[in-house]
Amino acid sequence: MFISDINLQYFRNYETLSAKLGSGVNVFYGDNGQGKTNILESVFFCAIGKSFRFSKDSDLVKSGKNEFKIELQLKDDITNEITVTFRNGQNSSSGAGEKAVRVNGLYLRRLGHLMGNLLSVIFSPEDLEIVNEGPSVRRKLLDIVISQIYPAHYFDLQQYNKILAQKNVLLRDIDPGNSGLIALLDVYNEQLAEAGSKISARRVLFSYELELFAAEKNAEISSGEKLSFQYYSNYFTIPEKANKNLLDNSELSKKIEEFSTVINKEFTEILNSRKNREIERSHSLYGPQNDDLLITLNDMELRRFGSQGQKRTAVLSIKLAETQLLYKLTGRRPVLLLDDVFSELDETRCALLLKNTEGFQTLLTTANLSELPREISSAAKIFFVESGSIKLI
Ligand SMILES: Nc1ncnc2c1ncn2[C@@H]1O[C@H](COP(=O)(O)OP(=O)(O)OP(=O)(O)O)[C@@H](O)[C@H]1O
Ligand SMILES: [Mg+2]
Repeated sequence: MFISDINLQYFRNYETLSAKLGSGVNVFYGDNGQGKTNILESVFFCAIGKSFRFSKDSDLVKSGKNEFKIELQLKDDITNEITVTFRNGQNSSSGAGEKAVRVNGLYLRRLGHLMGNLLSVIFSPEDLEIVNEGPSVRRKLLDIVISQIYPAHYFDLQQYNKILAQKNVLLRDIDPGNSGLIALLDVYNEQLAEAGSKISARRVLFSYELELFAAEKNAEISSGEKLSFQYYSNYFTIPEKANKNLLDNSELSKKIEEFSTVINKEFTEILNSRKNREIERSHSLYGPQNDDLLITLNDMELRRFGSQGQKRTAVLSIKLAETQLLYKLTGRRPVLLLDDVFSELDETRCALLLKNTEGFQTLLTTANLSELPREISSAAKIFFVESGSIKLI
């Protein structure tokens, strides 16, 4: 797939933007603060229905305006058009408003149905958070890519989080003698086991697949250092990494199905046997909300023992693995968004990144054209970005 046209209205610092993109590399260059990342943000918004920068939807509306619109035309794919519009609500400081998404002209009643229409991977300097920060960053990494492949994952997460919030409210002041409320807790637990076991099953098995690719890339850049992942959970037994080779989509789906049945049993048991403990603590203690992915290099935790360079290499390998897996499991090529990444990479890593982006439409930003490898700048479509307007050069 590739994006042939992008049109923005009142998005971030753009009054309007209208550009025809090439199917290969598209470079957006310009000084700091001119609107380069904003373009990538608008594209990724069409992939996952929100900003990748922790911004509220209302932050994306151009200041002084009341709504924004993003429109993408795609080629060589089942998706040929995505439009997103957002209009501020009455109280715009809350970030809430009306979001409407259309794919191929059809209005989507639920945002989750957007998942998988535009496949995309974003590489940014903040990716280092994957190794440096807490578990939620790694869960988010897995959840975004899994949701693009299996949109059901998005709906399961939504459902799980909704019930978890209700359960926590209930646990806050539940009286263990109140059989009606205990029965309600049992209902919540049953629903949590159902959605939660699918969430963790996908994350575990997907992380094994991701590891196979990422370890290979990492070894290639670092001349043989061993990158690996250990999935961590406090409520089910982690299975052995059985396969040495990547699974195809139907094998993986089948394994996920089987494994989620196993987890469901364990989850149900633990929620029942530790019910009193959760009541005492007034809080949910078990479930995928606590899962983590431990990243190790040469069997030592990367976060604690890795050098800056080793961390960068690992993160780049993980992102490249994400790209390859999306492609392998869907048969469709994701659009790559590279936000200011070349300035951080040395020659070996630049070369590997370049090799791996071949054949994928790439949108990249840089403040300095001269730091781009020549192979890129000579074949790319280059746009100059200046205070919310772009010019093809
Ligand atoms: N809602 C908004 N309305 C108007 N302008 C906005 C809005 N949100 C962000 N901006 C402006 O967008 C600009 C930042 O854009 P962006 O992050 O794309 O910059 P950039 O070109 O990627 O810069 P850098 O090279 O520093 O990463 C800033 O000038 C900011 O003030
Ligand atoms: Mg930027």
